[in-house]
Amino acid sequence: MSSEPFKNVCLLPQTNQLTGLYTIIRDKNTVRSDFVFYSDRIIRLLVEEGLNHLPVIPKTVATHTGEDFSGVGFKGKICGVSIVRAGESMEQGLRDCCRSVRIGKILIQRDEETAIPKLFYEKLPDDISERYVFLLDPMLATGGSAIIATDVLIKRGVKPERIFFLNLICCKEGIDNYHRAHPDVKIVTGCIDKGLNEQKYLVPGLGDFGDRYYCI
Ligand code: PRP
Ligand code: URA
Ligand code: MG
Repeated sequence: MSSEPFKNVCLLPQTNQLTGLYTIIRDKNTVRSDFVFYSDRIIRLLVEEGLNHLPVIPKTVATHTGEDFSGVGFKGKICGVSIVRAGESMEQGLRDCCRSVRIGKILIQRDEETAIPKLFYEKLPDDISERYVFLLDPMLATGGSAIIATDVLIKRGVKPERIFFLNLICCKEGIDNYHRAHPDVKIVTGCIDKGLNEQKYLVPGLGDFGDRYYCI
């Protein structure tokens, strides 16, 4: 499904089930074990949706009934790249769908006062330029972190059309900023929130995803 006013944004179907999952993770009283469990369920849905966007080629197999089945097989190789720290929470969901998938890491942190992101570290598969890349970060707020991460991928030779940015929550400002820099990257998201507060947190949002998933 594509999300109408936004080009190159795929919004998960807004079913009651999905809204129920978001209701749990947005609730400030949700304990960490539940936050992790229900976030992981949404992450799985995002990964499954991301996989729908990969190109396939025809593939015919012989079945046990003696008849053939004309299906498809994935065409290219993929890898995941997480924006550390919060993005690492999405790695297992990708691994659950794609066994032994290669995973790269880019460490970017927003300054807590200014919300300006800084790149500290990158470690990516050598052949990343030949792969489709799932860029993993649960929050697209101002878009600054994801823009820097995507710059890194493009410098390493990845074509923008081969990058899929998977996130749980975004907002118009973040989408617009990100697509101004990287219009050809497809964003796959579960929710488009109404905006950002003064601290550049998503609202209504869920607070600090990394803290809630790993710490508090
Ligand atoms: C959060 C989040 C994104 C970024 C989004 O990370 O995981 O990486 O902020 O904000 P932006 O779109 O305005 O750049 P943060 O830097 O807080 O670090 P963390 O992953 O350790 O929580
Ligand atoms: N990072 C988060 O964890 N949450 C936000 O709302 C914005 C950035
Ligand atoms: Mg981060």
